[in-house]
Amino acid sequence: MQQITLRRPDDWHLHLRDGPMLEGIVGESARDFARAIVMPNLVPPVVTRADALAYRDRIRAALGDDPFRPCMTLYLTEATDPDDVAAAAEDGLVTAVKLYPAGATTNSQSGVRDLGEVMPVLERMAAIGLPLCIHGEVTTPEVDIFDREAVFIETVLDPLRARLPELRITLEHVTTKDGVDYVREAEKNLACTLTTHHLVIDRNHMLVGGIRPHYYCLPIVKRAEHKRALRAAAVSGDARIFLGTDSAPHVDAAKETGCGCAGVFSATNTLPILAQVFEEDGALDRLEAFTSLNGAAWYGMDPNEATITLERSDDPVTFPARIETGAGPVTVFDPQMEIHWRVAR
Ligand code: DOR
Ligand code: ZN
Repeated sequence: MQQITLRRPDDWHLHLRDGPMLEGIVGESARDFARAIVMPNLVPPVVTRADALAYRDRIRAALGDDPFRPCMTLYLTEATDPDDVAAAAEDGLVTAVKLYPAGATTNSQSGVRDLGEVMPVLERMAAIGLPLCIHGEVTTPEVDIFDREAVFIETVLDPLRARLPELRITLEHVTTKDGVDYVREAEKNLACTLTTHHLVIDRNHMLVGGIRPHYYCLPIVKRAEHKRALRAAAVSGDARIFLGTDSAPHVDAAKETGCGCAGVFSATNTLPILAQVFEEDGALDRLEAFTSLNGAAWYGMDPNEATITLERSDDPVTFPARIETGAGPVTVFDPQMEIHWRVAR
């Protein structure tokens, strides 16, 4: 049987939610990953150092004695206090601050409308080396939803980087060729995460032959040519490019409805799917860089000492279709391809 052993992976973009949902899904990430950057878009959002401390306690309580480490983020608002951010960074509580343009996605109402308003926070972050994670989409109603990432890069990200070149930026869940090209051309202080699902599905999977609400996420999945560019970037080994699953659970009732929520839940089967993708692209030897090395280096952490082994079987492997949580059932990402890899237990 073919096997591959990697340093234990980390997930540099994860939604763990709260309450019964948190309790129901956190184990799906803790099973295969050592650490994750936890997104702060709760209701109400995780804005202050005190909010992050309390949320980390709730996550730790849900984990019990599991050693999985939540790396906390603060949700940037126009009222965020630079001193509070600096204090949270100084004691290692937060790993990054998250910028949601107001209205861009789930629970982003409290996000930023005018970047000018948060410049004092961003300047402080640049000075202390605290990274900014960005949901990179404009929210201008006239801009087509499929163009929002490319327009953001040109009209918001590039000017911001010119204005504050010392700010370290992670462009989250890049979904376009424009996005990966931009990151790869940058000289410094820019990296990006890629999700599992954007490496596997394109907009045809979501819309041809019926609408598949479990593939609806933000940024929305694009044309196949963009998916091909993302895959090429993921398997390239480029140190600025690494995994952030954006695994984002919503109960099925909130997805399978007249106006469904954005989010794909992929924590359960991400690593087997990625092994399949990297095998198909002849790059299994670079899987570890993507899942376990590049992101840690970017965030100034050592790679995990522990390892994980993936094994290949000739027969396709199956995964649970859904996870039952106290909040309701959550459908697991269906990659619509045969997966021959599993995590050895
Ligand atoms: O699809 C998404 N779901 N994209 C996001 O940016 C947020 C996330 C969520 O929180 O559900
Ligand atoms: Zn997200």
